[in-house]
Amino acid sequence: MKSHFPHRHLLGIEGLRREDVELLLDTAESFFDVSRRPVKKVPTLRGKTILNVFYENSTRTRTSFELAGKRLSADVVNMSMSTSSVAKGESLYDTVKTLEAMRPDVVVIRHASSGAPHFVARHVSHCVVNAGDGMHEHPTQALLDAFTIRRKKGTLEGLVVTICGDIAHSRVARSNMLLLKLFGAEVRLAAPPTLLPKGVEAYGVRVFDRLEPALEGADVVMALRVQNERLMGGAFFPSAKEYSKTFGLSDRSLRPAKPDAIVMHPGPMNRGIEIEPSVADGKRSVVLDQVEAGVAVRMAVLYLLSADEAEAP
Ligand code: NCD
Repeated sequence: MKSHFPHRHLLGIEGLRREDVELLLDTAESFFDVSRRPVKKVPTLRGKTILNVFYENSTRTRTSFELAGKRLSADVVNMSMSTSSVAKGESLYDTVKTLEAMRPDVVVIRHASSGAPHFVARHVSHCVVNAGDGMHEHPTQALLDAFTIRRKKGTLEGLVVTICGDIAHSRVARSNMLLLKLFGAEVRLAAPPTLLPKGVEAYGVRVFDRLEPALEGADVVMALRVQNERLMGGAFFPSAKEYSKTFGLSDRSLRPAKPDAIVMHPGPMNRGIEIEPSVADGKRSVVLDQVEAGVAVRMAVLYLLSADEAEAP
């Protein structure tokens, strides 16, 4: 029997309760091994249709949503927006109403505008999953990060998690802050003041303008990509070299963190800027564990939103 997930859509971590997140993570746990079997498929979502509608580039998120759907036996269609009628000027509204008429069960959407998935959810009858909206939220990334931390550290409660880098432009940071605070983690942010959103302390996080004190005793260190495409030529920091010297994760800069601290990055990485290759590929790095977790977490999301009551994972 399917456990009850009381939401029709997954638009953000905002609005979820701790028990909703726990249900998602426990369900992901139950799907994790499917991807390690010789036959990587269960019949759970047979007959369901999932559309991946990505208006922004993606490697990890799009592929893992596709694999998650396929490993649950759903039919998955990937829309390439550069070859769709969007290129002819069709509006988001007309595009999603057109897709709705083909009767999908779930539409997974990534869009450059914050709030686009919420707009879609208001106008369609199927489930909507936010795969990243502008600088707003990226809920499945926060879920797969939590899944990875829980597997490595046993719990999220009481951990010191330092998120460093381009917080201002990061939907990953926002979703992670919301989720980690639900679970009682101590969240610290380390960034140059120009890369911190105004009023971010309201999330209950501690803000540092230097890496060293922010890393003191950290259990988890999460580097974020410098989002060149969202910096729009602005002078947010003097140079890439200067940035990597002051905020880049290296074996040396990580010294204040706990010896068993794990290092995370949502990808794609700017090697040599926010993270040195020796850290990205080093023994503390869980970057590829995050990628693997992404498939299981997205299976859980698709299952909890769209499975019929009788289907067990
Ligand atoms: C992130 C994104 O697109 O928000 N990537 C991802 O989904 N793994 C982070 C980023 O682009 O820096």
